[in-house]
Amino acid sequence: MRTDYCGLIDTKYLEQTVTLCGWVHRRRDHGGVIFIDLRDREGLVQVVCDPDTKDAFETADRLRSEYVVEVTGRVRRRPEGTENANLVSGEIEVLAKAITLLNAALTPPFTLDEEQPSESVRLEHRVFDLRRPEMQRNMRLRYQVAMTVRRFLDDNGFIDIETPFLYKSTPEGAREFLVPSRLHDGQFYALPQSPQLFKQMLMVAGFDRYYQIVKCFRDEDLRADRQPEFTQIDIELSFVEEQQIRDIMEQMMRVVFRECLAIDLPDPFPVMRYDDVIRLYGSDKPDLRVPLQFTELTDLMRHVEFKVFRTAAEMEDGRVVALRIPGGGELTRKQIDDYTSFVSIYGAKGLAYIKVNEKARGLQGLQSPILKFLPHEIAHEILERCGSHDGDLIFFGADRATVVNGSLGALREKIGHELGLREEGWRPLWVVDFPMFEYDEEAKQWVARHHPFTSPKQGHEEYIENNPERAYAKAYDMVLNGWEIGGGSVRIYRPEVQEKVFHALRITPEDQRAKFGFLLDSLQWGAPPHGGIAFGLDRIVALMCEAESIRDVIAFPKTQRGQDVLTGAPTRVTEKQLRELHVRLRNPKPGTKRSILD
Ligand code: AMO
Ligand code: AMP
Repeated sequence: MRTDYCGLIDTKYLEQTVTLCGWVHRRRDHGGVIFIDLRDREGLVQVVCDPDTKDAFETADRLRSEYVVEVTGRVRRRPEGTENANLVSGEIEVLAKAITLLNAALTPPFTLDEEQPSESVRLEHRVFDLRRPEMQRNMRLRYQVAMTVRRFLDDNGFIDIETPFLYKSTPEGAREFLVPSRLHDGQFYALPQSPQLFKQMLMVAGFDRYYQIVKCFRDEDLRADRQPEFTQIDIELSFVEEQQIRDIMEQMMRVVFRECLAIDLPDPFPVMRYDDVIRLYGSDKPDLRVPLQFTELTDLMRHVEFKVFRTAAEMEDGRVVALRIPGGGELTRKQIDDYTSFVSIYGAKGLAYIKVNEKARGLQGLQSPILKFLPHEIAHEILERCGSHDGDLIFFGADRATVVNGSLGALREKIGHELGLREEGWRPLWVVDFPMFEYDEEAKQWVARHHPFTSPKQGHEEYIENNPERAYAKAYDMVLNGWEIGGGSVRIYRPEVQEKVFHALRITPEDQRAKFGFLLDSLQWGAPPHGGIAFGLDRIVALMCEAESIRDVIAFPKTQRGQDVLTGAPTRVTEKQLRELHVRLRNPKPGTKRSILD
């Protein structure tokens, strides 16, 4: 029916008669002549309606924003001085011969050119919001990334195999979504948090290289980079070691960035051990664009009088660090107070600082509320260790290591951004050698950091049972500009090692059978050494689009409260549906006690 997309009509169509379909982006009445910017997914074209062409002109007169029309007309050069260099169609316009109104539209909730409306308005009118050029671009980039990934993996011998969505409940990790079974009274499926165990079984089944671009479901607290259903690029390989897995995966990311954004990521990606990133940045996903690092002071502070620092330094799990801010001497009292409130969100009890006004003047040249508690040599040593210069400000964190890391780690990125210290560009990083276990204070026991099928590093098997804190894993995360975009590990494939891990995690043989019996059994059918990774597609695309939230790269996302405001999900269901599913509600009467989110 149509000749081409509106946005693609250019001088090659000059003097030809074309038929175009699209939405009325804007209609301007210039007393006598009506201009219509006609829009489709490729962009805009200017249509001119002359009163001499009576029918077309009359139809044009009735058009409003977002009406759907078909236009037939002749392509001619725009009068000199009226060209628009920003449009493919900017040198031409279409003189309408006939206009057919295909469909009218309600008055739009906002105009597509205006400043972005609030997110709740956008989500409520998502269909309209998706028409915005930015959203069209985001969704197409997402598609391009997925296609590039598929091509790359296909070229490298990976095959796409689907795994079930109706899965078995294995309550650990994030909370799961449950689906009641109609055929089995009182029983439930769970939606998978990831295809982890299925992909491992596919390796035992001999498929060798698997991938899937797949929805995963986690009922966790939502944030800018988290959705309850999100998409993983899920990958598993056999007969490989960690290095090969990482090599091929960073190769994939380089290809994606080159093909989709014409950007060359570093080759190879830098690699840092988990202990080192925590030591230097307090975070396992540091944004390397921010050039600030921690300076360790714990050893130095064991002998000072200042109680805040000494107590932290003497704690078994305590830590004292400095964070030097070049040029931070300019910060006002108010700014420092604001940063102090910021770190308190992460549990920090204060934010001591020293301003280095003039180093050459010794203590006189420093300005700080804590100097009176620090001997001269210690103050001097701090400045030396930090490599400080005149004009710097040094912040201090002293507490349990987790509090110091969390608070100053976040402060590092916030200040780096706010003071314009953050560099431009793309800074990928592999974080490797994660601890196998972490201590769960609430449950008072060790839990797996990644998952219980993660292989210990060479020689660390012996620590699993008696020194779990010393056991490190063949686990790795890919980090990009401060976002964790992927994570994976080499898996345990020998039953005796798996046995030890379960033992360390206090998972009893009965529990092992009940939860993972199917995997353990299949590992006995000749499991190859294997490992893999999963990337968060939403996060990768959000970074590439420079979106603030992954909601901007998902066509129909959920709100922060897990709702779909467009369709209204979740909703109540009828008594009949519930009965069929053998489910009875705790608060059956609508409107009595509603969900905690209402
Ligand atoms: P993991 O739990 O680290 O690993 O998840 C892999 C990647 O998925 C993304 N991601 C999310 N994205 C959006 N919303 C969420 N709620 C969300 N949760 C995770 C992140 C993360 O890096 N089975 C293992 C992988 C493996 O070992 O192969 C797994 O699921 O980018
Ligand atoms: P105080 O003795 O509590 O008045 O604290 C003196 C200085 O140390 C103030 O600047 C506080 O902000 C700072 N401070 C207090 N607790 C901590 C902490 N845990 N880490 C870093 N600085 C702290």
